Amino acid sequence: MVRTAALVAAAAAMLLNDVHAESLYSKKSSVLQISGVDYDRLIAKSNYTSIVEFYAPWCGHCKNLKPAFESAAKSLAGIAKVAAVNCDEEMNKPFCGQMGVQGFPTLKIVRPTKRVGKPSVEDYQGQRDAKSIVEAVKDKIPNAVKRVTDKKLDEWLESAGDGAKAILFSEKGLVSATMKTLAVDFAGLISLAQIRNKEAASVQKFGIKKFPTLILLPAGSSEPIVYDGEMKKEPMVAFLSQVAPPNPDCPPAKAKKTKAKKDTKKESKSSSKLSKASASHKSANASSAAASATDETVEEPIKATESPAANLKDGDAPEPVALPVETPKPTIPVLVESSQLQASCLNVQSKTCILAIIPKDESSEAATSVLASLASIHHKHDKRGSQLFPFVGVSASNPLASSILSGLSLGKEDDVHLIATNGKRSWYKKYSGKNFGQTEVEKWVDALRMGEGKKEKLPDNLLAAAKKVEAKEEKKAEDDVKIEIEEIVDDTPKHGEL
Ligand SMILES: *[C@@H]1O[C@H](CO)[C@@H](O)[C@H](O)[C@H]1NC(C)=O
Ligand SMILES: *[C@@H]1O[C@H](CO)[C@@H](O)[C@H](O)[C@H]1NC(C)=O
Repeated sequence: MVRTAALVAAAAAMLLNDVHAESLYSKKSSVLQISGVDYDRLIAKSNYTSIVEFYAPWCGHCKNLKPAFESAAKSLAGIAKVAAVNCDEEMNKPFCGQMGVQGFPTLKIVRPTKRVGKPSVEDYQGQRDAKSIVEAVKDKIPNAVKRVTDKKLDEWLESAGDGAKAILFSEKGLVSATMKTLAVDFAGLISLAQIRNKEAASVQKFGIKKFPTLILLPAGSSEPIVYDGEMKKEPMVAFLSQVAPPNPDCPPAKAKKTKAKKDTKKESKSSSKLSKASASHKSANASSAAASATDETVEEPIKATESPAANLKDGDAPEPVALPVETPKPTIPVLVESSQLQASCLNVQSKTCILAIIPKDESSEAATSVLASLASIHHKHDKRGSQLFPFVGVSASNPLASSILSGLSLGKEDDVHLIATNGKRSWYKKYSGKNFGQTEVEKWVDALRMGEGKKEKLPDNLLAAAKKVEAKEEKKAEDDVKIEIEEIVDDTPKHGEL
């Protein structure tokens, strides 16, 4: 064996990480599962306040937090977004780093500011039970509901002008999270105010008999329409929607995924795509009906249902788990086992991969140069948060190395050979340059991403049969996304600005 045991283990671990980065939350979970790529649109540009958990599936404290977090998500449905990012997924790692995540789980409350897409982000340091989380998030929801007294009523009516207005008459002075969220949903469409029962002149002016009562004054009208439904988010949204449909909470998803989506089987394999799809679905729901119903009433503060496991006392407050040590220089795995190579790139399900076949003399200039070029190209894309297919080195000691060389008639064993493979579509493309510097290699990679370059038929005998990899393939779901980029032009949001 040419490589040291440690390097081999590191390479294998990287690969396994990729393959087994399973999500902690199920697809049905009320927690919105997002990737670093989704964050910008679904959270940073949302008008809603969010709490985002950064976790790793293997972390014990993350597992302990799960029931409380899911319960918080249910309580906050329609009021705030509750999302989770799996930092163990290769594609999310740079994003988690940028967000300053240093241990798991890390909870951050993200709330919109006046500057769209530049939310304020702060760590949640409170107790990790559902009720504390729910209260902390509600506390952060910006309030655009004006509290109006008798003295100020005319002034407010005037300032709101001819536009539609809604007033909640209440025994309470505090503005509930539901009302705050209604103000977000109808920002720019309806001016919202809250008036207490003791403001006798206002109460009399609108003929209010009981509390709470919500009235709507359509544009240009002083004739109030009285709401007679329950003080719950969803029916209240429906009532106010007679003026105008609520604002979308976040920008719509880009309609770009279509091309790669024809193959539904492929789609179902790609859980990351799925989570994206379901995220946009959820947010579509959230925006259309301004999110789902909740049991919250305007007058009663919500009692978050606490799951038993969520009762962490002060004493056993979870210590964040340290993140795995960052490798100082970007590297790519150099695989020595044929099974690793088959699982990652050479099977009938695998999508585009880039393989650098390394000669026995791994310290040769070409070998070090190609590995360094590939690593820094991949690193660059990771940092941008853009997805890229796997880059893998194939050690000369890998039994498949010589099969590839002879099967594809690549030439001498002493040279470096750079190829792109696609097991599913059964093609490969050769890098014909002699120079493995970053600029040259990157040109070739970019051309590949655009679908350019001459395809040749990949011999079937180089690909592991489907059965052998099927089990792994299921688990590999998230990983597929990175491999699947071929047809997708790079317009993923950049996270540099975060
Ligand atoms: C957010 O709120 C503004 C009004 O403040 C509204 O115009 C916009 O449509 C809402 N949604 C998004 C995604 O910005
Ligand atoms: C969206 O709403 C529809 C109908 O209201 C419902 O069937 C569907 O399950 C919802 N989807 C999500 C992701 O909440």
